[in-house]
Amino acid sequence: MPEPSSRRGAIVASALVTPTGPAPVRGRSSAEPLVLRDAGVAWEDGAITYVGPADGLPASSPEVFEGGLVVPGFVDCHTHLPFVGWRDDEFETRLAGATYRALHGEGGIYRSARLLSEAEDEEALAFCLPLVREMAEHGTTALELKTGYGLSLEAELRQARLARRLASEAPQACTVTLLAAHAVPHGMAREDWVRVACRELIPAVAAEGLADAVDVYVEDIAFSIEDLRAVAEAAAEAGLPIRCHADQLGPSGAAEAAVALGARSADHLNHVSREGVEALAIGDTAAVLLPASSFLMRGSPPPVRAMAEAGAAIALATDFNPGTSAVLSMPEAVAFGCAWYGLTPHEALTATTLNAAWVLGLHERTGSLEVGKDADLVVLDAEAFRRVPYRPGHNPVLATLVGGRSVVRR
Ligand code: NIG
Ligand code: FE
Repeated sequence: MPEPSSRRGAIVASALVTPTGPAPVRGRSSAEPLVLRDAGVAWEDGAITYVGPADGLPASSPEVFEGGLVVPGFVDCHTHLPFVGWRDDEFETRLAGATYRALHGEGGIYRSARLLSEAEDEEALAFCLPLVREMAEHGTTALELKTGYGLSLEAELRQARLARRLASEAPQACTVTLLAAHAVPHGMAREDWVRVACRELIPAVAAEGLADAVDVYVEDIAFSIEDLRAVAEAAAEAGLPIRCHADQLGPSGAAEAAVALGARSADHLNHVSREGVEALAIGDTAAVLLPASSFLMRGSPPPVRAMAEAGAAIALATDFNPGTSAVLSMPEAVAFGCAWYGLTPHEALTATTLNAAWVLGLHERTGSLEVGKDADLVVLDAEAFRRVPYRPGHNPVLATLVGGRSVVRR
Protein backbone atom coordinates (compact mmCIF):
# COMPACT_ATOMS: atom_id res chain seq x y z
CA MET A 1 0.00 0.00 0.00
CA PRO A 2 1.30 3.47 -0.82
CA GLU A 3 2.31 5.83 1.97
CA PRO A 4 -0.53 8.28 2.74
CA SER A 5 1.82 11.19 2.08
CA SER A 6 2.62 9.91 -1.41
CA ARG A 7 -1.05 10.17 -2.37
CA ARG A 8 -0.89 13.95 -2.20
CA GLY A 9 1.44 16.05 -4.29
CA ALA A 10 2.00 18.41 -7.16
CA ILE A 11 4.31 18.86 -10.08
CA VAL A 12 5.24 21.71 -12.35
CA ALA A 13 6.60 21.17 -15.86
CA SER A 14 7.43 23.25 -18.91
CA ALA A 15 4.43 21.94 -20.80
CA LEU A 16 1.41 19.69 -20.53
CA VAL A 17 -0.68 18.01 -23.18
CA THR A 18 -3.77 15.89 -22.63
CA PRO A 19 -6.84 14.78 -24.52
CA THR A 20 -10.09 15.78 -22.86
CA GLY A 21 -13.37 13.88 -22.67
CA PRO A 22 -15.86 12.62 -23.52
CA ALA A 23 -14.34 9.33 -24.55
CA PRO A 24 -13.84 7.90 -27.04
CA VAL A 25 -12.54 10.77 -29.14
CA ARG A 26 -13.41 10.10 -32.77
CA GLY A 27 -11.52 10.71 -35.97
CA ARG A 28 -9.77 13.94 -36.73
CA SER A 29 -10.92 15.78 -33.62
CA SER A 30 -8.37 13.72 -31.68
CA ALA A 31 -5.77 16.04 -33.20
CA GLU A 32 -6.87 18.79 -30.78
CA PRO A 33 -5.94 18.00 -27.19
CA LEU A 34 -5.44 20.64 -24.52
CA VAL A 35 -1.90 22.10 -24.63
CA LEU A 36 -0.51 24.28 -21.81
CA ARG A 37 2.87 25.92 -21.28
CA ASP A 38 4.28 26.22 -17.72
CA ALA A 39 1.71 23.86 -16.31
CA GLY A 40 0.95 22.44 -12.91
CA VAL A 41 -0.89 19.34 -11.74
CA ALA A 42 -1.93 18.67 -8.14
CA TRP A 43 -3.61 15.67 -6.53
CA GLU A 44 -4.99 14.50 -3.22
CA ASP A 45 -5.82 10.96 -2.15
CA GLY A 46 -4.47 9.89 -5.53
CA ALA A 47 -7.04 11.93 -7.50
CA ILE A 48 -6.31 15.03 -9.59
CA THR A 49 -7.45 18.28 -7.92
CA TYR A 50 -5.89 20.84 -10.28
CA VAL A 51 -4.68 21.03 -13.90
CA GLY A 52 -3.71 24.46 -15.18
CA PRO A 53 -1.11 27.21 -15.24
CA ALA A 54 1.78 26.61 -12.82
CA ASP A 55 1.24 30.00 -11.17
CA GLY A 56 -2.30 29.03 -10.18
CA LEU A 57 -1.23 25.79 -8.50
CA PRO A 58 -2.97 25.54 -5.11
CA ALA A 59 -0.26 23.33 -3.57
CA SER A 60 3.03 24.55 -2.16
CA SER A 61 6.49 23.16 -3.04
CA PRO A 62 5.65 21.17 -6.14
CA GLU A 63 8.28 18.97 -7.74
CA VAL A 64 9.66 20.88 -10.73
CA PHE A 65 10.52 19.21 -14.06
CA GLU A 66 12.38 21.89 -16.02
CA GLY A 67 12.02 21.10 -19.72
CA GLY A 68 9.58 18.28 -18.98
CA LEU A 69 6.26 17.52 -20.68
CA VAL A 70 3.42 16.05 -18.62
CA VAL A 71 1.00 13.70 -20.34
CA PRO A 72 -1.53 11.18 -19.04
CA GLY A 73 0.01 7.79 -18.32
CA PHE A 74 -0.11 5.43 -21.28
CA VAL A 75 -2.83 2.79 -21.28
CA ASP A 76 -1.76 -0.39 -23.07
CA CYS A 77 -5.15 -1.76 -24.09
CA HIS A 78 -3.92 -4.89 -25.88
CA THR A 79 -1.31 -7.23 -24.39
CA HIS A 80 -1.06 -11.00 -24.01
CA LEU A 81 0.49 -11.07 -20.54
CA PRO A 82 0.70 -13.29 -18.55
CA PHE A 83 2.93 -15.55 -20.63
CA VAL A 84 6.18 -17.43 -19.99
CA GLY A 85 9.16 -17.67 -22.31
CA TRP A 86 10.19 -16.11 -25.63
CA ARG A 87 9.88 -17.40 -29.18
CA ASP A 88 12.72 -15.56 -30.89
CA ASP A 89 13.69 -18.74 -32.76
CA GLU A 90 10.28 -18.59 -34.50
CA PHE A 91 10.96 -14.95 -35.35
CA GLU A 92 14.25 -15.96 -36.97
CA THR A 93 12.54 -18.81 -38.86
CA ARG A 94 9.98 -16.31 -40.16
CA LEU A 95 12.78 -13.98 -41.26
CA ALA A 96 14.10 -16.93 -43.29
CA GLY A 97 10.77 -17.23 -45.08
CA ALA A 98 8.45 -19.33 -42.91
CA THR A 99 4.96 -17.96 -42.33
CA TYR A 100 3.18 -17.45 -39.00
CA ARG A 101 0.47 -19.79 -40.29
CA ALA A 102 3.05 -22.54 -40.99
CA LEU A 103 4.48 -22.30 -37.46
CA HIS A 104 1.00 -22.45 -35.94
CA GLY A 105 0.72 -26.07 -34.84
CA GLU A 106 3.66 -27.26 -32.79
CA GLY A 107 4.90 -23.70 -32.38
CA GLY A 108 3.04 -20.44 -32.07
CA ILE A 109 0.21 -20.09 -29.57
CA TYR A 110 0.35 -23.84 -28.79
CA ARG A 111 3.98 -23.53 -27.74
CA SER A 112 3.27 -20.61 -25.40
CA ALA A 113 0.39 -22.65 -23.95
CA ARG A 114 2.81 -25.53 -23.29
CA LEU A 115 5.40 -23.23 -21.71
CA LEU A 116 2.76 -21.73 -19.43
CA SER A 117 1.45 -25.17 -18.44
CA GLU A 118 4.99 -26.28 -17.53
CA ALA A 119 5.59 -23.29 -15.25
CA GLU A 120 4.44 -23.04 -11.63
CA ASP A 121 2.39 -19.93 -10.80
CA GLU A 122 5.34 -18.44 -8.92
CA GLU A 123 7.66 -18.96 -11.90
CA ALA A 124 5.14 -17.36 -14.23
CA LEU A 125 4.80 -14.34 -11.93
CA ALA A 126 8.58 -14.09 -11.63
CA PHE A 127 8.73 -13.93 -15.43
CA CYS A 128 5.92 -11.38 -15.82
CA LEU A 129 6.47 -8.95 -12.95
CA PRO A 130 9.77 -7.53 -14.25
CA LEU A 131 8.04 -7.02 -17.60
CA VAL A 132 5.15 -5.01 -16.14
CA ARG A 133 7.71 -2.97 -14.20
CA GLU A 134 9.58 -2.36 -17.45
CA MET A 135 6.27 -1.20 -18.92
CA ALA A 136 5.99 1.32 -16.08
CA GLU A 137 9.51 2.53 -16.92
CA HIS A 138 8.15 3.25 -20.40
CA GLY A 139 5.20 5.18 -19.02
CA THR A 140 2.43 2.58 -18.94
CA THR A 141 0.12 3.28 -16.00
CA ALA A 142 -2.71 0.88 -16.92
CA LEU A 143 -2.82 -2.21 -19.06
CA GLU A 144 -4.80 -5.16 -20.27
CA LEU A 145 -3.89 -8.74 -19.35
CA LYS A 146 -5.31 -11.57 -21.46
CA THR A 147 -5.72 -15.31 -21.30
CA GLY A 148 -5.57 -17.43 -24.45
CA TYR A 149 -2.51 -19.52 -23.58
CA GLY A 150 -4.62 -21.97 -21.60
CA LEU A 151 -6.46 -23.83 -24.37
CA SER A 152 -8.50 -25.98 -21.99
CA LEU A 153 -11.22 -25.13 -19.50
CA GLU A 154 -8.97 -25.61 -16.49
CA ALA A 155 -5.91 -23.98 -18.04
CA GLU A 156 -7.87 -20.89 -19.15
CA LEU A 157 -9.30 -20.54 -15.65
CA ARG A 158 -5.82 -20.92 -14.22
CA GLN A 159 -4.44 -18.23 -16.54
CA ALA A 160 -7.29 -15.87 -15.64
CA ARG A 161 -6.57 -16.37 -11.91
CA LEU A 162 -2.88 -15.86 -12.59
CA ALA A 163 -3.73 -12.64 -14.42
CA ARG A 164 -5.71 -11.38 -11.42
CA ARG A 165 -2.73 -12.20 -9.19
CA LEU A 166 -0.36 -10.41 -11.52
CA ALA A 167 -2.78 -7.45 -11.47
CA SER A 168 -2.67 -7.34 -7.67
CA GLU A 169 1.14 -7.28 -7.67
CA ALA A 170 1.71 -4.94 -10.63
CA PRO A 171 2.32 -1.24 -9.95
CA GLN A 172 -0.33 -0.34 -12.55
CA ALA A 173 -4.08 -0.83 -12.83
CA CYS A 174 -4.73 -3.97 -14.90
CA THR A 175 -7.89 -5.35 -16.46
CA VAL A 176 -8.25 -8.98 -17.50
CA THR A 177 -9.66 -10.17 -20.82
CA LEU A 178 -10.67 -13.77 -21.34
CA LEU A 179 -9.38 -14.67 -24.82
CA ALA A 180 -11.94 -17.44 -24.95
CA ALA A 181 -11.17 -18.53 -28.52
CA HIS A 182 -7.49 -18.16 -29.47
CA ALA A 183 -6.42 -21.51 -30.93
CA VAL A 184 -8.46 -24.67 -31.39
CA PRO A 185 -7.18 -27.14 -28.77
CA HIS A 186 -5.34 -30.09 -30.35
CA GLY A 187 -7.56 -33.13 -30.74
CA MET A 188 -10.76 -31.11 -30.50
CA ALA A 189 -13.17 -29.89 -33.19
CA ARG A 190 -13.48 -26.11 -33.43
CA GLU A 191 -17.19 -26.10 -32.71
CA ASP A 192 -16.68 -28.34 -29.66
CA TRP A 193 -14.25 -25.84 -28.15
CA VAL A 194 -16.62 -22.96 -28.89
CA ARG A 195 -19.36 -24.88 -27.09
CA VAL A 196 -17.11 -25.39 -24.04
CA ALA A 197 -16.08 -21.74 -24.13
CA CYS A 198 -19.68 -20.52 -24.29
CA ARG A 199 -21.37 -22.97 -21.95
CA GLU A 200 -18.67 -23.60 -19.36
CA LEU A 201 -15.69 -21.26 -19.55
CA ILE A 202 -17.42 -17.88 -19.85
CA PRO A 203 -20.04 -18.62 -17.16
CA ALA A 204 -17.32 -19.95 -14.82
CA VAL A 205 -15.10 -16.93 -15.38
CA ALA A 206 -18.03 -14.57 -14.83
CA ALA A 207 -19.15 -16.39 -11.67
CA GLU A 208 -15.66 -16.04 -10.20
CA GLY A 209 -15.26 -12.44 -11.41
CA LEU A 210 -12.07 -13.33 -13.24
CA ALA A 211 -12.45 -11.19 -16.37
CA ASP A 212 -13.58 -7.76 -17.49
CA ALA A 213 -14.03 -8.59 -21.20
CA VAL A 214 -14.02 -11.49 -23.65
CA ASP A 215 -11.94 -11.70 -26.84
CA VAL A 216 -12.02 -13.92 -29.95
CA TYR A 217 -9.28 -14.48 -32.55
CA VAL A 218 -11.08 -14.52 -35.90
CA GLU A 219 -8.74 -15.91 -38.58
CA ASP A 220 -8.65 -18.80 -41.07
CA ILE A 221 -6.25 -20.66 -38.71
CA ALA A 222 -8.36 -19.91 -35.65
CA PHE A 223 -12.09 -19.07 -35.31
CA SER A 224 -14.90 -17.95 -37.62
CA ILE A 225 -17.37 -15.10 -37.56
CA GLU A 226 -20.02 -17.61 -36.58
CA ASP A 227 -17.86 -18.51 -33.56
CA LEU A 228 -17.49 -14.81 -32.76
CA ARG A 229 -21.29 -14.48 -32.74
CA ALA A 230 -21.68 -17.44 -30.39
CA VAL A 231 -19.02 -16.14 -28.00
CA ALA A 232 -20.47 -12.62 -28.14
CA GLU A 233 -23.85 -14.01 -27.11
CA ALA A 234 -22.36 -15.92 -24.18
CA ALA A 235 -20.34 -12.87 -23.15
CA ALA A 236 -23.45 -10.67 -23.26
CA GLU A 237 -25.30 -13.15 -21.06
CA ALA A 238 -22.42 -12.95 -18.62
CA GLY A 239 -22.51 -9.14 -18.76
CA LEU A 240 -19.04 -8.86 -20.32
CA PRO A 241 -18.06 -6.68 -23.30
CA ILE A 242 -16.64 -8.42 -26.36
CA ARG A 243 -13.44 -7.66 -28.27
CA CYS A 244 -12.08 -9.21 -31.44
CA HIS A 245 -8.74 -9.92 -33.13
CA ALA A 246 -9.97 -8.91 -36.58
CA ASP A 247 -8.52 -9.09 -40.10
CA GLN A 248 -4.90 -9.52 -38.92
CA LEU A 249 -3.43 -12.08 -41.35
CA GLY A 250 -6.14 -11.86 -43.98
CA PRO A 251 -9.58 -10.35 -44.66
CA SER A 252 -12.51 -12.11 -43.02
CA GLY A 253 -15.17 -9.45 -42.47
CA ALA A 254 -14.46 -9.63 -38.73
CA ALA A 255 -14.33 -5.85 -38.26
CA GLU A 256 -17.83 -5.24 -39.57
CA ALA A 257 -19.12 -8.29 -37.68
CA ALA A 258 -17.55 -6.94 -34.48
CA VAL A 259 -19.25 -3.56 -34.99
CA ALA A 260 -22.60 -5.25 -35.72
CA LEU A 261 -22.24 -7.19 -32.45
CA GLY A 262 -21.51 -3.99 -30.51
CA ALA A 263 -17.96 -5.08 -29.69
CA ARG A 264 -15.87 -2.71 -27.61
CA SER A 265 -13.02 -3.01 -30.10
CA ALA A 266 -11.79 -4.62 -33.29
CA ASP A 267 -8.02 -5.08 -33.06
CA HIS A 268 -5.21 -5.38 -35.67
CA LEU A 269 -7.28 -4.59 -38.83
CA ASN A 270 -4.38 -5.00 -41.29
CA HIS A 271 -6.75 -6.42 -43.91
CA VAL A 272 -9.97 -4.62 -42.96
CA SER A 273 -12.43 -4.20 -45.84
CA ARG A 274 -13.99 -0.94 -46.99
CA GLU A 275 -17.23 -2.07 -45.32
CA GLY A 276 -15.24 -2.61 -42.14
CA VAL A 277 -13.86 0.93 -42.24
CA GLU A 278 -17.35 2.33 -42.84
CA ALA A 279 -18.76 0.30 -39.96
CA LEU A 280 -16.01 1.46 -37.58
CA ALA A 281 -16.66 5.06 -38.61
CA ILE A 282 -20.24 5.00 -37.33
CA GLY A 283 -20.35 2.18 -34.79
CA ASP A 284 -19.44 2.11 -31.11
CA THR A 285 -16.42 -0.12 -31.66
CA ALA A 286 -12.90 1.26 -31.33
CA ALA A 287 -10.27 0.42 -33.93
CA VAL A 288 -7.23 -0.81 -31.97
CA LEU A 289 -4.04 -0.46 -34.00
CA LEU A 290 -1.08 -2.74 -33.21
CA PRO A 291 1.73 -1.63 -35.50
CA ALA A 292 4.56 -3.28 -33.54
CA SER A 293 3.15 -6.71 -34.35
CA SER A 294 2.68 -5.71 -38.00
CA PHE A 295 6.32 -4.59 -38.06
CA LEU A 296 7.73 -7.76 -36.53
CA MET A 297 5.46 -9.87 -38.76
CA ARG A 298 6.54 -7.73 -41.74
CA GLY A 299 2.87 -7.22 -42.53
CA SER A 300 1.09 -4.38 -44.27
CA PRO A 301 -0.53 -1.45 -42.43
CA PRO A 302 -4.30 -0.93 -42.18
CA PRO A 303 -5.92 2.02 -44.00
CA VAL A 304 -5.39 4.23 -40.95
CA ARG A 305 -5.95 7.63 -42.61
CA ALA A 306 -9.22 6.38 -44.11
CA MET A 307 -10.35 5.23 -40.66
CA ALA A 308 -9.38 8.51 -39.00
CA GLU A 309 -10.92 10.70 -41.71
CA ALA A 310 -14.12 8.64 -41.64
CA GLY A 311 -14.45 9.25 -37.88
CA ALA A 312 -13.44 5.97 -36.25
CA ALA A 313 -12.36 6.00 -32.60
CA ILE A 314 -8.73 4.91 -32.76
CA ALA A 315 -6.66 3.32 -30.01
CA LEU A 316 -3.04 2.21 -30.26
CA ALA A 317 -1.32 -0.51 -28.20
CA THR A 318 1.70 -2.83 -28.14
CA ASP A 319 0.07 -6.30 -28.56
CA PHE A 320 2.91 -7.41 -26.25
CA ASN A 321 3.24 -11.19 -26.71
CA PRO A 322 6.05 -13.69 -27.39
CA GLY A 323 4.88 -14.58 -30.92
CA THR A 324 4.12 -11.48 -32.95
CA SER A 325 5.19 -8.51 -30.81
CA ALA A 326 7.86 -8.63 -28.13
CA VAL A 327 7.47 -4.85 -27.82
CA LEU A 328 6.28 -3.55 -24.43
CA SER A 329 7.12 0.14 -24.93
CA MET A 330 4.22 2.46 -25.64
CA PRO A 331 6.60 5.22 -26.88
CA GLU A 332 7.80 2.65 -29.43
CA ALA A 333 4.19 1.88 -30.41
CA VAL A 334 3.64 5.64 -30.82
CA ALA A 335 6.66 5.83 -33.15
CA PHE A 336 5.32 3.00 -35.32
CA GLY A 337 1.82 4.50 -35.16
CA CYS A 338 3.04 7.83 -36.51
CA ALA A 339 5.96 7.04 -38.82
CA TRP A 340 4.43 3.96 -40.40
CA TYR A 341 0.66 4.05 -39.80
CA GLY A 342 0.34 7.78 -40.41
CA LEU A 343 -1.19 9.02 -37.16
CA THR A 344 -0.36 12.57 -36.14
CA PRO A 345 1.51 12.78 -32.81
CA HIS A 346 -1.57 14.16 -31.07
CA GLU A 347 -3.81 11.47 -32.58
CA ALA A 348 -1.31 8.92 -31.26
CA LEU A 349 -1.41 10.52 -27.80
CA THR A 350 -5.21 10.28 -27.67
CA ALA A 351 -5.04 6.73 -29.06
CA THR A 352 -2.63 5.60 -26.32
CA THR A 353 -4.35 7.35 -23.41
CA LEU A 354 -8.03 8.35 -23.39
CA ASN A 355 -9.25 6.10 -26.19
CA ALA A 356 -7.24 3.15 -24.90
CA ALA A 357 -8.75 3.72 -21.45
CA TRP A 358 -12.20 3.67 -23.07
CA VAL A 359 -11.42 0.30 -24.67
CA LEU A 360 -10.65 -1.10 -21.20
CA GLY A 361 -13.65 0.61 -19.58
CA LEU A 362 -11.28 2.74 -17.46
CA HIS A 363 -11.99 6.13 -19.08
CA GLU A 364 -13.80 7.54 -16.06
CA ARG A 365 -10.74 7.09 -13.87
CA THR A 366 -7.76 7.46 -16.22
CA GLY A 367 -6.60 8.36 -19.74
CA SER A 368 -6.61 12.16 -19.42
CA LEU A 369 -5.49 14.84 -16.99
CA GLU A 370 -8.82 16.04 -15.63
CA VAL A 371 -9.91 16.93 -12.11
CA GLY A 372 -11.37 13.91 -10.34
CA LYS A 373 -9.46 11.33 -12.33
CA ASP A 374 -6.63 9.25 -10.89
CA ALA A 375 -3.29 11.05 -10.92
CA ASP A 376 -1.87 8.65 -13.51
CA LEU A 377 0.73 10.69 -15.29
CA VAL A 378 4.04 10.56 -17.04
CA VAL A 379 6.72 13.23 -17.35
CA LEU A 380 8.62 13.09 -20.65
CA ASP A 381 11.93 14.68 -21.59
CA ALA A 382 10.27 16.43 -24.52
CA GLU A 383 9.15 19.91 -25.50
CA ALA A 384 6.21 18.59 -27.46
CA PHE A 385 4.67 15.15 -27.85
CA ARG A 386 6.03 14.88 -31.41
CA ARG A 387 9.47 14.29 -29.87
CA VAL A 388 8.27 10.83 -28.79
CA PRO A 389 7.68 9.34 -32.28
CA TYR A 390 10.65 11.32 -33.59
CA ARG A 391 13.06 9.40 -31.35
CA PRO A 392 12.19 5.70 -31.61
CA GLY A 393 14.40 3.58 -29.39
CA HIS A 394 14.84 6.39 -26.86
CA ASN A 395 12.93 6.05 -23.62
CA PRO A 396 11.55 9.58 -23.01
CA VAL A 397 10.11 8.82 -19.55
CA LEU A 398 11.52 10.81 -16.61
CA ALA A 399 8.82 9.85 -14.12
CA THR A 400 5.75 7.63 -13.95
CA LEU A 401 3.06 8.17 -11.32
CA VAL A 402 0.11 5.87 -10.71
CA GLY A 403 -2.65 7.34 -8.55
CA GLY A 404 -0.17 10.05 -7.50
CA ARG A 405 2.31 7.47 -6.29
CA SER A 406 5.74 7.61 -7.86
CA VAL A 407 6.53 4.23 -9.41
CA VAL A 408 9.41 5.29 -11.67
CA ARG A 409 12.03 8.04 -11.48
CA ARG A 410 14.74 7.99 -14.12
O1 NIG B 1 -2.32 -10.65 -31.30
N1 NIG B 1 -2.62 -13.63 -33.54
C1 NIG B 1 -3.17 -13.83 -32.47
N2 NIG B 1 -2.73 -13.54 -31.27
C2 NIG B 1 -1.53 -12.82 -30.99
C3 NIG B 1 -0.31 -13.63 -31.15
C4 NIG B 1 -0.24 -14.76 -30.22
C5 NIG B 1 1.01 -15.58 -30.32
O2 NIG B 1 1.57 -15.78 -31.42
O3 NIG B 1 1.41 -16.09 -29.25
C6 NIG B 1 -1.52 -11.48 -31.71
O4 NIG B 1 -0.76 -11.22 -32.65
FE1 FE C 1 -3.25 -9.81 -29.81
